[in-house]
Amino acid sequence: MEKLRSLVAIYPGSFDPITNGHLDLIERGARLCDRLVVAVLRNEAKQPLFSVEERMEMLREVICDYPNAEVDSFDGLLVDYAQRRGATVLIRGIRAISDYEYELQMALMNRRLCPGVETVFLMAGEAYSFLSSRVVKEVIRLGGDISGLVPSPVEVRLKNRVLRGF
Ligand code: PNS
Repeated sequence: MEKLRSLVAIYPGSFDPITNGHLDLIERGARLCDRLVVAVLRNEAKQPLFSVEERMEMLREVICDYPNAEVDSFDGLLVDYAQRRGATVLIRGIRAISDYEYELQMALMNRRLCPGVETVFLMAGEAYSFLSSRVVKEVIRLGGDISGLVPSPVEVRLKNRVLRGF
């Protein structure tokens, strides 16, 4: 029988920049839904290393293996954006129990704001349980090796931005 409704999921985040942990989540998320929208938050209050456009460019470069995934940006409330995109699922990654408290608070607030949109937590691969954009930026700033932690085009851009200033 033909399916009438397709499942659209949003994977929101800062992605400053995308790490292999995020990519792992994109791969898992893309398998679960018909359309996965990787959505970068436009947040004027934060001082990111990469502009929203740069982050979206990097995401597009590395999600090309997943034909049902696309990249977008949003501002304002996530649930409003989800509704505009016809999404019924929000995907968030949980690396360790320490993530849970913040994620639970956000999920319950989003549910209160919009009961029709469900948050789904996915467990990142255990190889990435220590990985975050913040830690990657700190390690590269201090001269450490980040190979294998971010996709190679992102590693090049990180080295250019942090070590060479462009
Ligand atoms: O990668 P991050 O920084 O952990 O992502 C956080 C994000 C973008 C998911 C979160 O800050 C967000 O959804 N912001 C949009 C504002 C919003 O909807 N707030 C209400 C939910 S608490």
